[in-house]
Amino acid sequence: MRRRLIPVNVVIASLLFILLSLEPDQIKPPKAVMDRGETIYAKECLGCHQADGLGVQGLNPPLAKTKWVLGPRAQMIHIVLKGLTDPIEIDGDTYNNPMPPHLHLNDQEISDVLTYVRNSFGNNAKPITPADVKKVRAAIAKGK
Ligand code: HEC
Repeated sequence: MRRRLIPVNVVIASLLFILLSLEPDQIKPPKAVMDRGETIYAKECLGCHQADGLGVQGLNPPLAKTKWVLGPRAQMIHIVLKGLTDPIEIDGDTYNNPMPPHLHLNDQEISDVLTYVRNSFGNNAKPITPADVKKVRAAIAKGK
């Protein structure tokens, strides 16, 4: 009796499908970046946003799958560099405590901590580079 093999084109199609479904977004950043980011998070963010990134209801918002964390990189960088005083709403809760600016952190530190946040607490979003931070810092310096 002839052995039934899976046709080669089916195998190739399946492999291609698996490769294509691994979009860059789903690839974890290098461990060194995540480790540096975690250290900066512990020092600069944890006090308000908590170790689990879930914040404190009504006071400090969660960083898990919010539109600011998963959204455009420039917007997230802007919030963290310059702070935020506008009220925001997440899952029906309004947050209106001021978030302080973090202009004392350098471009590498900001990119590490934001890449860490974007890939922790159930988040999975593209890394942020020091060049991204540099651009937003320059815009802020011009009063934006
Ligand atoms: C003193 C407390 C405090 C610290 C420290 C702090 N935040 Fe926040 N953060 C807040 C508050 C309060 C808001 C909401 C501000 C508003 O709506 O006016 C906020 C908002 C945010 C947002 C947008 C809303 C959301 O939840 O997605 C992001 C992103 C964020 N913070 C990230 C960070 C990161 C990263 C750090 C550390 C580098 C940090 N924060 C440090 C209090 C803090």
